[in-house]
Amino acid sequence: MQKPLIIGNWKMNYTTVEAIGLCKNIMEELKDIDTVDIVVAPPFTSIEILSALLNHANISLAAQNVHFEAQGAYTGEISVAMLKHIDVKYIIVGHSERRTYFAETNEIVAKKAKAVLANGLIPVICVGENMVVREEKKYLEHIKNQLLPILNNLDENLAEEIVIAYEPIWAIGTGKSAKEKDAEEVLSYVRKLLQNTFSSDVANKIRLLYGGSVNAQNIASLLQESNIDGALVGGASLAAKSFVEIIDAVK
Ligand code: PGA
Repeated sequence: MQKPLIIGNWKMNYTTVEAIGLCKNIMEELKDIDTVDIVVAPPFTSIEILSALLNHANISLAAQNVHFEAQGAYTGEISVAMLKHIDVKYIIVGHSERRTYFAETNEIVAKKAKAVLANGLIPVICVGENMVVREEKKYLEHIKNQLLPILNNLDENLAEEIVIAYEPIWAIGTGKSAKEKDAEEVLSYVRKLLQNTFSSDVANKIRLLYGGSVNAQNIASLLQESNIDGALVGGASLAAKSFVEIIDAVK
């Protein structure tokens, strides 16, 4: 198995002062851990100051969104180069909240993933179905329809760097995580899609995450599954204690 990757997505929470406080607590508690890739995704406003704080630390930074164009008249948007300049390493693209509330389509997500990768950063590509699709048992088809336009738009030479997060919408923020075998069913299917798209060497290197109500109680059993290489954590990443407990359960 690859080194596990745990990303804390803070979403639209915390002022800069609050973010610094949380980051300092996490840094202190996790400073000796080298068996887990630890990442936090604060709001844009806190990234630069946390970047200075985390200089040489074992915690990397992610952004929660980005624009696909390099520069120009896109009021309110932020480019990959701007994020790269402040040492962001990962960028979450296509989170279901962006798809739902900000009309982000697969086409847009595909452009974002390509731009992130082309600039040497790592896109964390999110996919996942809602409860209706799950109950209709169309979730594998749904995942395929979300993922293929994105994968087909990527440069195969760079593709092994990407991260894919399966986040069923019904599990996000609900306290009802997917069962291990259900998450594994989807992620082993994602692995198959990757093997059909890229060489198996590339496909097998790509890290696959599960997200949706991950906590210190369920993370260890999720990671037992062969295609779950880590987690995208929302609510439980908002307090140092619960985030540190997750990392402790993983290490
Ligand atoms: P949650 O969020 O852990 O609060 O369910 C996960 C996510 O949206 O990435």
